[in-house]
Amino acid sequence: MSEKAKLVLGEKTYELPVFTGTEGEKAIDITKLRADTGFVTLDSGYMNTGACTSAITFLDGEQGILKYRGYGIEEIAEKSSFIEASYLTFYGKLPSASELKAFEERIASYDDVPEGIKAMIKAFPKDAHPMAVLSSNMVSLSAFYQDMCNQDLSADQKDTAIAQLMGQLKVMAAYAFRHSQGKDFVKSDKKLDYCSDFIHMMTGDKNVNKEVAKALDILLILHVDHEQNCSTSSVRMVGSSKANIFATISAGVDALWGPLHGGANQAVLEMLEEIKNSGNDYKQFLNDVKDKKSGSRLMGFGHRVYKNFDPRAKIIKKACDSVLSTLGVNDPLLDIAKGLEEVALKDPYFVERKLYPNVDFYSGIIYRALGIPTNMFTVMFAMGRLPGWMAQWKEMVEQPGFKICRPRQIYTGDTKNVYKDIKSR
Ligand SMILES: CC(C)(COP(=O)(O)OP(=O)(O)OC[C@H]1O[C@@H](n2cnc3c(N)ncnc32)[C@H](O)[C@@H]1OP(=O)(O)O)[C@@H](O)C(=O)NCCC(=O)NCCS
Repeated sequence: MSEKAKLVLGEKTYELPVFTGTEGEKAIDITKLRADTGFVTLDSGYMNTGACTSAITFLDGEQGILKYRGYGIEEIAEKSSFIEASYLTFYGKLPSASELKAFEERIASYDDVPEGIKAMIKAFPKDAHPMAVLSSNMVSLSAFYQDMCNQDLSADQKDTAIAQLMGQLKVMAAYAFRHSQGKDFVKSDKKLDYCSDFIHMMTGDKNVNKEVAKALDILLILHVDHEQNCSTSSVRMVGSSKANIFATISAGVDALWGPLHGGANQAVLEMLEEIKNSGNDYKQFLNDVKDKKSGSRLMGFGHRVYKNFDPRAKIIKKACDSVLSTLGVNDPLLDIAKGLEEVALKDPYFVERKLYPNVDFYSGIIYRALGIPTNMFTVMFAMGRLPGWMAQWKEMVEQPGFKICRPRQIYTGDTKNVYKDIKSR
């Protein structure tokens, strides 16, 4: 007999189906709740709401587990490339050698953007945040590729969309960076792998250090997908209206920009700089965080879902040590970060609230060592997350019973105001 949950409302008892996921997660299916009872659920911040079923990413925040399509993140980060992890996420299986090669070539064939997009990048102020440039570039692609803007993309068009956006996002990100530096755009080189080419397009140097490219590749892998986070939910929300793929992905870029989401890695570095400038007193900084008067948080700590070590943070911390030693970089911010982590992990405030380092705590230090400026950090996150957004969008539009996303609310405003003429207000 299938499991049921019982809900007692006044005199009546209702039975609600229980849905069990493949990793044993359980959910009470409330699809018919309002129709049967007249009630809706109230769950601000969606802390307990499963907005969809999904076969892409599993994460267990209590145990600190993250898997893409059933493969542990540790194994993917060690054995796959970013392009392979993207294929896995989007197509649901690891590619064969020939499938991977074809996918890489298809992405590399999108090695430039229309002249109008280039002109647009050049029209931005040099100090514009690159996320502003990226977001507007992304949605503007819909004006240049109108044949890709139909409501329902064919299977072929979906294959084009993932390759095109992965190729062109890299180009737009590099061009936005070059513009911010007052430098000419550097043309992509198809002979280089994805990350090496991106570094080449940023620096103009084709001799990219292999370790550096590998570190960037790992960082992108770690960001590929993270189930229903704010930007992915935004992609699903916007995509559910059947907005075109460029507008849909641009919504993900916008959501990612916020400091509580993808903007956190930039905020971490700013915090570390601030601590350094105030004489390295990280203990005082932690006291300020804890008394909450300053309103500041320990950026890069805490997570809505992970109440244990973020498995990505462990991989990044290791990569961080290795990149810094390979490049011979001695970064005082790394010492501050390690000091903060050590003290915070023993402090009852952080222990009781289960606040552990998240993916952003060390990623900024690696980006810095790679010569990537702070305001590009969130752009790097967007490059990594793009295949996840695309996979989640594809899964949503292909799921039987696809519906526009439209949450409900409980109205708490005035109920009967008397309208006064403007002159008497
Ligand atoms: C990620 C984050 C938004 C998750 O927030 P959340 O699940 O809504 O958790 P809450 O904001 O309800 O926090 C729960 C408690 O921990 C505290 N807390 C959470 N993160 C904290 C942090 N980074 N520093 C200090 N205190 C923190 C809150 O003040 C709150 O304390 P209280 O119970 O005394 O009120 C939050 O941890 C945060 O702001 N972290 C810093 C930003 C960051 O690194 N974001 C990247 C995420 S990948």
